[in-house]
Amino acid sequence: MAKLGAIKPMSALLSEAHKEGEHELKRALGPVNLITLGIGAVIGAGIFVLTGQAAAIHAGPAVTLSFIVAGITCAFAGLCYAEFAALIPIAGSAYTYGYATLGEFVAWMIGWDLVLEYAFGAATVASGWSGYLVSLLQDFHIYVPPQLTTTRGDLLYFYQAHWLPIGSLPMGINTAGMPHVTGVFNLVAFVAILVVTLVLVVGIEESANLNTAMVLIKLSAVGVFLVIGIAFLLHHPHLAKINWHPYIPPSEGPGRFGIGGITAGAASIFFAYIGFDAVSTAAQEAKNPQRDMPIGILGTLVICTLLYIVVSAVMTGMVSYRTLNVADPMAVAIDVTGIAWGSILVKVGAVFGLATVMLVMLLAQSRIFFSMSRDGLLWKWAGKIHPRFRTPYMSNIVVGVIVAFLPALLPIDKLAELVNMGTLLAFAIVCAGVWILRRRMPDLPRPFKTPWVPLVPICGIVTALYLVWTLPALTKEVVLAWLLVGLLIYFTYSVKHSKVQKALGTAR
Ligand code: ALA
Repeated sequence: MAKLGAIKPMSALLSEAHKEGEHELKRALGPVNLITLGIGAVIGAGIFVLTGQAAAIHAGPAVTLSFIVAGITCAFAGLCYAEFAALIPIAGSAYTYGYATLGEFVAWMIGWDLVLEYAFGAATVASGWSGYLVSLLQDFHIYVPPQLTTTRGDLLYFYQAHWLPIGSLPMGINTAGMPHVTGVFNLVAFVAILVVTLVLVVGIEESANLNTAMVLIKLSAVGVFLVIGIAFLLHHPHLAKINWHPYIPPSEGPGRFGIGGITAGAASIFFAYIGFDAVSTAAQEAKNPQRDMPIGILGTLVICTLLYIVVSAVMTGMVSYRTLNVADPMAVAIDVTGIAWGSILVKVGAVFGLATVMLVMLLAQSRIFFSMSRDGLLWKWAGKIHPRFRTPYMSNIVVGVIVAFLPALLPIDKLAELVNMGTLLAFAIVCAGVWILRRRMPDLPRPFKTPWVPLVPICGIVTALYLVWTLPALTKEVVLAWLLVGLLIYFTYSVKHSKVQKALGTAR
């Protein structure tokens, strides 16, 4: 009988961490690469799209407080990730940490759950990316056939030289007689995922360098937004006073403004923080993981939290929060300054910015598959390393092709909810794992220690589960179905091939 609670010995994990050779991943990443990898994963649809929606629907100018609340939730998990990533610097992230602490079965379920986070995360962002790219091209009168820019059944109307979904048309406009088409397949998002997959197959060093360049472009766009915005506010302080007042608009019902609106806003912009944990999946490719993993994870979180706070404060000072429920709130805010090139620049930044998010998400995804395959819990092909590029190319290609179909066929909001749930479950388990390992093996040499254990892990678990609870029932059902498929694979394949089970002499 297989042992579901089989624990991967710490000695085996640490010896894997120190392996070198042509069948191993290459240790090429320094602290700057790791922080840019993190920023590459984190700053994306959240700041470019969701900030405006959260302000307009939930929190008003207090969306800045929502970012602080969500940032604190992530900080609990981030501290726990940092302890694990420095202690067990191999590729599998939360999956590996679960294997070392809670046993094989829980580890398998986390690994399967992380696939949901990263694969669906990349798909969600690809969907947003296609929207920005298509809009930017249309600014220059270049038109992709509109049927191939959105998912099946979506209606697009031709208005002011742009194909727009009905929600982006001015309120009360009469659509009768307007040229319109129905979406068939989002080919733009499909191709985006395939191109990113190709980049990842070619190599981690190339991917990291390309990522660094794109992160710089994305940060420049955010920087230009801040410079223009702050200069504008300094010249029009009376406008900021009007727009920031009342700072916390009076409640209009559950989750709509007031204090409840701040927490509802935090739950919705949680997506903006997703990705800092992706840094830990690159632990096996870090040159000095003991020192650099905590720097990479916590550095990413601090930089992104500060940026989010400033961007949301400036944005809600420039325009009334009520006007921000649009696909491109940053561009809308810039429009008020009359600087025409500003909105083009923001769109260019978004196109590059969202590309880096896809890159890191798919990178993380393939590394999870790689680790699970190396442990015998997934098919052998998933752990195959390309002899020349030294990347897990089979895992990249198979996952990339499957993921490409998701944004082509499914709407962005449904994809995003699944990502939030997958991530929150992983956060809760990682926090529990830190606490458990501290009790079981208190004397392990930990290069980085989460402060105030068990208080910080408990706060991490409670806040993550609270946010899971606020998600829609359908999302919970789909995640449950996904986990059931995982169970099936575990009991039909993994238990029979598990290396840890074999070592324990319990494999069937
Ligand atoms: N945090 C990432 C984004 O905002 C997933 O797009």
